[in-house]
Amino acid sequence: MKILILGSGGREHAIGKKLLKDSVDLYFYPGNGGTDQIGKNIKNIHSPSELCFFAKKNAIDITIVGSETFLLEKIVDIFQKVGLKIIGPHYLAARLEGDRIFSKYFMKKYGIPTPKYKTFDCYQKAMDFLEETTYSVAIKTRGIASGKGVLLVKNKAEAKKALNSIMRDKKFGESGNKVIIEEFLQGNEASILSIFNGKNIIPFLSAKDYKKIGEKETGLNTGGMGTIVPNPHMTNDVWIDFKKNILEPTLEGLFLEKLTFFGFIYFGLMITSNGVYLLEYNTRLGDPEIQTLFPLMKSSFLHIIQSSLFQQKNIKIHWEKKLYSCCIVLSSKGYPEKYESGKVIKGLNSLKEPFYIAGAKKEKEKWITSSGRVLNVIGIGKSIHEAIKTAYDKVNKIHFENLYFRQDIGL
Ligand code: GLY
Repeated sequence: MKILILGSGGREHAIGKKLLKDSVDLYFYPGNGGTDQIGKNIKNIHSPSELCFFAKKNAIDITIVGSETFLLEKIVDIFQKVGLKIIGPHYLAARLEGDRIFSKYFMKKYGIPTPKYKTFDCYQKAMDFLEETTYSVAIKTRGIASGKGVLLVKNKAEAKKALNSIMRDKKFGESGNKVIIEEFLQGNEASILSIFNGKNIIPFLSAKDYKKIGEKETGLNTGGMGTIVPNPHMTNDVWIDFKKNILEPTLEGLFLEKLTFFGFIYFGLMITSNGVYLLEYNTRLGDPEIQTLFPLMKSSFLHIIQSSLFQQKNIKIHWEKKLYSCCIVLSSKGYPEKYESGKVIKGLNSLKEPFYIAGAKKEKEKWITSSGRVLNVIGIGKSIHEAIKTAYDKVNKIHFENLYFRQDIGL
């Protein structure tokens, strides 16, 4: 079986490594130095249509969309038009991630608890609203702006500065033509990844992602600096609340709006003392959440994907229920802003599995950094403390110039 995976990070390397257990032939676009070791990175493609032509010509059996960028370029619609099997939402459903105003409208329509909000396309009206609000806010661009369009602000002055940078200075381009000013809720975040087969949504184990660059969740937002699985805040009661008030109404909404698809839904939750709220949908797998989840997934990922594509009623996913997993992201100092690459990585050749390459390449038998997020190192243990310790022991075997990682993942 030939599988094509779209994306270039640790998530795509992890999907590839997991699928290798099912003896498939792997193709990646664009891929990275890690995916190059386990499959073929496709080159010289310049558009979704060229990618579609490649998949048809090479008889690709299933394509898995890793990064949301492809979804918003309508890759699923393009592939499905010519009868290619692809895992991911069509464009209209991908707007649940790509268009925050649509997403909030969907949540409101289906009674899904989400922080209260107002939308603005007029700078002055947004400023006036900020002047009169009495609660803490987050400012979000309508488009996802490569994951950067969420600005958490501490006070009115910061909020006004943020609004200025989005609506006047166009820091995020057209993504910021409309903004959402949302109430900032206090609580604990959780990531629930799931697979949707057009009939049911089957959640994975819970995960806790550490999104900020600095320790104690300070500094700029990143793609994710580490994850633990399971999330200690997802108690049984929280699971019941999530399923009843978020998952089930989401399913109902997807049916009624004719937005069903075969692919992944990632619920970004905030667990508060007043219950669980949905902050956002993503219509793909989380990175590095899935790298942390895979080592605990006993089921074949290929079977899970096929069950979605063939609309099997009950997709049963088996997990290592007594184990814990922790992922530390090793990055280049300066990320998510300016950083240097091209640094030689020492210790990688003897590093124990599981680990994934996020941004590095092999040149003349040497591994060299090539991106902001470089490696995902995973520790597994019988307790969360053991998993964290195992992960950091592995991290300490890796060295490169300007290496940066958070020392407080899971702590
Ligand atoms: N780890 C957050 C994300 O994948 O969006």
